[in-house]
Amino acid sequence: APSMQLAPHPSIPKPEGPVMVCILDGWGVNVEDKYNAVFSADTPTTDALRAVPRRYRSVKAHGTAVGLPSDADMGNSEVGHNALGSGQVVDQGARLVDMALESGKMFEGAGWKLISGAFADHTVHFIGLLSDGGVHSRFNQLIGCIKGAVERGAKRIRVHILTDGRDVPDGSSAAFVAQLQEDLAGLKGCDAKIASGGGRMNITMDRYEADWSMVKRGWDAHVLGKAPHTFKDALTAVKTLRGDPENPISDQYLPAFVIVDDDGKPVGTIEDGDAVVLFNFRADRMVEMSKAFEYPDFDIFDRVRYPADLKFVGMMQYDGDLLLPKTYLVPPPEIKGVSGEYLVKNGITTFACSETQKFGHVTFFWNGNRSGYFDSSKETYLEIPSDNCPFNEKPDMKAVEIMEAGREALRSGKYQMVRLNFANPDMVGHTGDLNASIRACAVVDECVAELIKVVDEVNGRFLVTSDHGNSDDMVQREKKTLKPLIDKDTGKPMPLTSHTLAPVPVYIGGKGLPANVVLRDDLPDAGLANITATYINLLGLQAPEKYKPSLIVAE
Ligand code: 3PG
Ligand code: CO
Repeated sequence: APSMQLAPHPSIPKPEGPVMVCILDGWGVNVEDKYNAVFSADTPTTDALRAVPRRYRSVKAHGTAVGLPSDADMGNSEVGHNALGSGQVVDQGARLVDMALESGKMFEGAGWKLISGAFADHTVHFIGLLSDGGVHSRFNQLIGCIKGAVERGAKRIRVHILTDGRDVPDGSSAAFVAQLQEDLAGLKGCDAKIASGGGRMNITMDRYEADWSMVKRGWDAHVLGKAPHTFKDALTAVKTLRGDPENPISDQYLPAFVIVDDDGKPVGTIEDGDAVVLFNFRADRMVEMSKAFEYPDFDIFDRVRYPADLKFVGMMQYDGDLLLPKTYLVPPPEIKGVSGEYLVKNGITTFACSETQKFGHVTFFWNGNRSGYFDSSKETYLEIPSDNCPFNEKPDMKAVEIMEAGREALRSGKYQMVRLNFANPDMVGHTGDLNASIRACAVVDECVAELIKVVDEVNGRFLVTSDHGNSDDMVQREKKTLKPLIDKDTGKPMPLTSHTLAPVPVYIGGKGLPANVVLRDDLPDAGLANITATYINLLGLQAPEKYKPSLIVAE
């Protein structure tokens, strides 16, 4: 379409070499003390970049700046990559579900109609992440849906819970389970119980096909009522499975369990004619389970029993290209005119790469929740397979392999734009392991150094940034004094496994960047969405009108 033509930038010429955009996932700018792994790590490269006048700044990566309901919401990779790739701030899943519940629209759509077919004489099952993290799901939204179902005649409800400890403090799951049990017991005229569960990093919530066995363990527990552990109630399950309080199994990794009655029979297997709601709004970790529920001829693992006449919905549609699931409760955010589409329409060739854990982030989320290429003749997406282990055991992850692939792409002369995501500061940060996170930051800094050398070699330009904070704070803190909170059982500071509210850095440079191109100083409130116009300008092009303003000028 002619409207997608981007004019040459009036004062920034086209570069001779490629433009490299690096996302250091989970690398924020935060309080500088020893619990900040980014600060504590040996990072000579980013330290030097930070010292270059007018070529370093930070931008907002959380809350309303990235389309989340409030400024108390930490950023995450989904909304962060949406903003980075689209140049726009759109209302995100968390907020769209809030609005659908408030307005009652939730209860009028096709998804609700489908599940209501099970209200009178079947069971409605809710499966999802049980916390108020607001990254994949939110506790009050689950309760809102359950109450809405009961008010509209649902007679039997079963909840299948995934314990969190990743977007919220580890150990907090027991309190969410206790609250859920209380809320379910208080429902009038409905038999409502927790039926099965397990840790989010152990069952059900795999992403990008890193480990399908997680999904199988989830299927066995939720659908078949089979798991290594059975309990009479979920609170006992969670407390018992954590084990030794001085050295607990984290909420993220709790083994699967099934709740049974006095005769040892599971209280909530999924049967013919039942309704199933995946109540997470975020896509990445729901796609695999959606396939298992939705595709009659699914064969990645043996489902043993596939319930007939299932009324299956997602909180949202998780993949708009696969139309998966077909039926959902709330339409997902619409993101139009993302940078990937503009670039191919303007003849720009792109190489994008990350390892499995972040591959969909730098492709699917980056492209406004679209799978596949805009134009495969102009784009190459490379996935480096991730290890399957707790990442504090291997904090280097695949950083070096990603760096090498990026280096080759930069040197190949085939690509005008090279974008890379380094998962380490995020994935290792989520384990709460400070020393491993320090290593994660150091290895990423080394990779940036290698890449910048090559950018200079080919007269290119670079923009190094992040999608949200994580490794920049590894302990829970007292709100006022910022002193670490101390665990009563261990006497040690309580680890912070979640993302942070911190802003993220933006470093620009490269031998091919004219000396007069600098960061503007009149956009103090800029956020991640301002970065899109910035790298389009680095390509020597003007950004689309509707994008947030570019961070750079030629003076
Ligand atoms: C996860 O899914 O791993 C966390 O909940 C969020 O992390 P991400 O937003 O960095 O993927
Ligand atoms: Co993360």
